[in-house]
Amino acid sequence: MNRDHYIRRPPGRFITLEGIDGAGKSTHIPFIRDWLATRQIEAVFTREPGGTPVGERIRELLLAVDTEASLDTETLLMFASRQQLLDSVIKPALEAGKWLVSDRFTDSTFAFQGGGRGVPHQRIQALEQWVQQGLQPDLTILFDLPLEVAAARMSQGNTRDRFEREHADFHARVRVAYQQRAAGQARFVVLDAERSISAIQADIAGCLQCLLDMA
Ligand code: ADP
Ligand code: TYD
Repeated sequence: MNRDHYIRRPPGRFITLEGIDGAGKSTHIPFIRDWLATRQIEAVFTREPGGTPVGERIRELLLAVDTEASLDTETLLMFASRQQLLDSVIKPALEAGKWLVSDRFTDSTFAFQGGGRGVPHQRIQALEQWVQQGLQPDLTILFDLPLEVAAARMSQGNTRDRFEREHADFHARVRVAYQQRAAGQARFVVLDAERSISAIQADIAGCLQCLLDMA
C-alpha cells in the first residue's frame, strides 16, 4: 500500500481489484461494499472497461467476439474508456473524499495487452502517463490463483467474451505479468485466491483496515 506517489494526493482512497478472468473479483465486491458501509465510509464502485455511458459502449465493442481490432486499437480503446472514467467518476469521487473501488484498472492493460498480447511496456506506460498524470491507486488487490482453478470456476458461468475465449497460454502470460508487476510496487497486495471465500475476505478486511488507518 502506498500513498506517496501523488504530486498532490486527493483526499479519498483509490482501490483497484485485479486478476485473471475468474479470479473472484466480482464475488468480493459486495463484501467490500458492506465493509465500507458499516463504517459509514462513502464509496463509489466502478469497473473497467466501462463505468460511464461512453465507457460501457467501448466495453461492448471490446468484449464482442466478432470485434476485429489491432493491438494498438484495443489498447487505445482501454485508455479511452479509462480517460472518461477518470474525468467523470474517479477524480470527482476522490476529490470529494470518497473511496473509489474499481474492478480492474491500468494493471489490467499491462497484464492483458502487455503480457497477454505483447504490446510493448513503454507504449502502455506512455498512455498511462498521458491519461493518469501520476494518479495511481493507493491499494491494488491482486487475486492470484492457478489458471486451471479459475477456468474450472468459470466453466459453470455464462458465455465467454473476447478475452475469456483466449487460449490458456494467453491467460498464463497475463498471470505472470500481474505477478511481475505486483513484485515491483508497494501498492500491491497479492492474495491467494484459491482459498475459501471467507479466508480471502478476512485478508481483504485486513487490507481495508490498513488503508483506513493510513494518514
Ligand atoms: P471475476 O469477477 O474475477 O471474473 P467471479 O467473482 O465472477 O470472478 O468468480 C468466478 C466464479 O468463481 C464464480 O462462479 C464464483 O462464484 C466462483 N468463486 C469466486 N471465488 C471463489 C472461491 N474463493 N472459491 C470458490 N469459488 C469461487
Ligand atoms: P471483467 O469485467 O473483469 O470481465 P468479467 O466480469 O467477465 O470477468 O473484464 C473484462 C475483460 O476485459 C477481461 O477479460 C479483461 C479485459 N481487460 C483488458 O484486456 N485490458 C484492460 O485494460 C481491462 C480494464 C480489461
